[in-house]
Amino acid sequence: MIFSEELVQWYLNNKRDLPWRNTTDAYIIWLSEIILQQTRVEQGMPYFYRFAEKYPTVSDFAAADEDDILKLWQGLGYYSRGRNMLKTARLVAEHYNGVFPQQYNQLIKLKGIGEYTASAISSFSANEAKAVVDGNVYRVLARYFGIDEPINSPKGKKDFQILANGLLNHDHPGLHNQAMMEFGAMLCKPKNPACGICPVRTDCFAFKNNATTSLPVKLKTIKVRERFFNYFLIINNNEILLNKRDEKDIWANMYDLPLIETSELTLIDELLALPQIKDYFGESIEIQNISPVYKHILTHQRLHVRFIKLQAPEVKLQQNWFFSRLENLEKFALPKIIFIFIEIFLTCRIIHVESNLCQE
Ligand code: ADE
Repeated sequence: MIFSEELVQWYLNNKRDLPWRNTTDAYIIWLSEIILQQTRVEQGMPYFYRFAEKYPTVSDFAAADEDDILKLWQGLGYYSRGRNMLKTARLVAEHYNGVFPQQYNQLIKLKGIGEYTASAISSFSANEAKAVVDGNVYRVLARYFGIDEPINSPKGKKDFQILANGLLNHDHPGLHNQAMMEFGAMLCKPKNPACGICPVRTDCFAFKNNATTSLPVKLKTIKVRERFFNYFLIINNNEILLNKRDEKDIWANMYDLPLIETSELTLIDELLALPQIKDYFGESIEIQNISPVYKHILTHQRLHVRFIKLQAPEVKLQQNWFFSRLENLEKFALPKIIFIFIEIFLTCRIIHVESNLCQE
């Protein structure tokens, strides 16, 4: 028997009886697939039942309040899934007459539906010949065929999709896809795969070469650190307040402005209520201007930078803070984003005064 037939045979004898497998209703399948994104079957199951019972059709879902959807979603995490579902349900109710689409080309255009989900829904609901490639399928294919191309590299993604397409059984694509995924989830597991009872082990590269622990290969993704910088621009008597940065962080030993770093993007009112504000700038402060939040990308960090122009006559100089005459600003090494902002601000102010071109 060929590989995919073996897996289907195994699936028919061993599959779990999962509620979304007993239907071809694209709406119900969509519901299950979105819930199961980033969620284990056991965790997602009660949510699936709750949603399917409360909203048996996509029109019922579309008529719900966002608050109700989010309440029912509570505990599942990644709440944007729930919000996107509501948008998609409303679009389907309006533009598809309440009939959830089954075709890949229609599904892929909907919010929250990517290649995997569109393939799953179209093949499970309408037997469209689209091969699914999820984490389970990557693992099964990498091990069986001995592919060491990283599954999260652009080439890897392409290679695995091509291989999966080639293996797809066009007579029953839905069954084939379910079998591949179930085989990966239940037998060819990430840790301790059940090779002893595997029906395809004699031709499995990883089994023969003792390589189940090293396949599939995944590139380590470097985590990007998100940082939120709130800079304060204070100019008193033609002197600008600067800070000399220390050597342990980005822009080591360079110069910037007084900074309050927050763990997330805060509302201005929340920022101004922080105790440092009084400690640094005294009681009698006045906001003159707030810039938009600029994104600044560094190798492993993404900075969200905001500038607040402050009138603060009673500033309390902190360690490394000092005033510099504006005309001396060029002498200091400022990170480009800060230098440019100050330049624009100052030029703008001058232009503003003289010709009203800049909006302060
Ligand atoms: N995970 C994602 N989709 C699934 C499905 N249809 N069956 C089992 N587990 C899944």
